[in-house]
Amino acid sequence: MSKSEIGLIGLGTMGSALALNIAEKGFDIAVFNRTTSVTREFVAEAGDLGPRITPTETLVDFVAAIAEPRAIILMVPAGQPVDDQIAALQPLIGPQDLIIDAGNANFHDTNRRMRSLPTPFLGIGVSGGEEGARHGPAIMGGGPRPHWDRVAHILTAIAAKFRDTPCADWMGEEGAGHFVKAVHNGIEYADMQLIAETYGLMRDGLGMAAKQIGEVFSQWNAGPLQSYLVEISGKVAAVIDDATNAPLLDVIVDAAGQKGTGRWTVIEAQHLAAAIPVIEAAVVARNISSRIEERAALQAVFGAGPTAIAPDDLSSEVMEQAMICGKILCYDQGFRMMKAASGEFGWNLQAPAIARVWREGCIIRSAMLDDMASAFTEDPDRSLMAAPFFARQIAATHAALRKVVSVAALHGIAVPAHAAALAYFDAMRTARGTANMIQGQRDFFGLHGFARLDDGTSGNHGPWARD
Ligand code: 6PG
Repeated sequence: MSKSEIGLIGLGTMGSALALNIAEKGFDIAVFNRTTSVTREFVAEAGDLGPRITPTETLVDFVAAIAEPRAIILMVPAGQPVDDQIAALQPLIGPQDLIIDAGNANFHDTNRRMRSLPTPFLGIGVSGGEEGARHGPAIMGGGPRPHWDRVAHILTAIAAKFRDTPCADWMGEEGAGHFVKAVHNGIEYADMQLIAETYGLMRDGLGMAAKQIGEVFSQWNAGPLQSYLVEISGKVAAVIDDATNAPLLDVIVDAAGQKGTGRWTVIEAQHLAAAIPVIEAAVVARNISSRIEERAALQAVFGAGPTAIAPDDLSSEVMEQAMICGKILCYDQGFRMMKAASGEFGWNLQAPAIARVWREGCIIRSAMLDDMASAFTEDPDRSLMAAPFFARQIAATHAALRKVVSVAALHGIAVPAHAAALAYFDAMRTARGTANMIQGQRDFFGLHGFARLDDGTSGNHGPWARD
């Protein structure tokens, strides 16, 4: 029997979808799952693709079924299960065999594995949920370039295409692929939060029903905000629950889950001294959302926050523009963070390549990402805020962002991601800030010294130093 070109371990939702995608693109694939019944069910349901798939029931058979030098994709839960799986494979594979971790790994783990493993290793970020994995995800590769090149023909074949260009690329050395995926997820949280806040303004401020709100999102999806997340928000809002006959949204508990990738992004941003306040606000909002009982108890103490907004005070156009502005500012932060990481870790991350990979297949795919790819292609070192196309958009929309934040504040509606975007905008476009006061305070209590504006000297102290 001829051997498979690639192997995949882990036939959960994402693993099965990816394996079928690989088989569909014409590659023979060997598969293994710890629970054998899962493998059997998977093959039984593979239909026409069955002949391309070699199911195996032991790791020894799995390894033997793959052509050498082997390429083995791991699609197991991030963390210890990946280490356990690698440890189980090591005695069975050869020195040239390549292990590819395609899960949502923390990039620090990927760095560690790449440095410590005796065999080749790649860490790839795969985005797009089950549908993406099955029919075309976005793929962010990280690790030694020659390892990527070995499997690039398979990964580009299975990836989503944006006008025929595969949304799969090598991002850089070590854990660069998983790092870019983490930032993607941080941005995903922020995009989702901006949408949820706008939903809140319409529901709690303007008293709109879920169906109407869904229509607004669907309309916006035909304009500058066109994106997968706005599209599905329109669809989610439109659904009626069978059991209650009420809008499904109205019966979903308002506590958001999270697997941790958004949190990792925020933690890493602090290490890098990168400013990503919109993403931070989105992570914090998820944390607060899960404190349901506490929120109910405090509402009993202080009364409900939201009060009605007069329709004339907040138009749909203003909310749309505010979201456009918030989104650009959020991406500005995410790309700046990746630039900081690139310098810190010596990865040479390429902003145009990242924006291009995100144009299709991934959860944050949007029309705006194509414009971002163009802006970074023009000048990869310039921030989005400074790129003429986006500077014009920000100039045209920041007043709407200010309006949304101020109306929300006056009506007791929490819009933390919008507010964080506005504060970031105001801070970033203010040449003379207020940190001179911070420096004065630091010098007063700790003699930390300050720089002077008039003569450019540093290490100066105030008169309190003489006391
Ligand atoms: C993707 C997603 C995916 C993520 C889920 C859930 O790009 O396909 O980011 O990787 O795991 O969306 O993430 P949370 O549970 O953290 O919301």
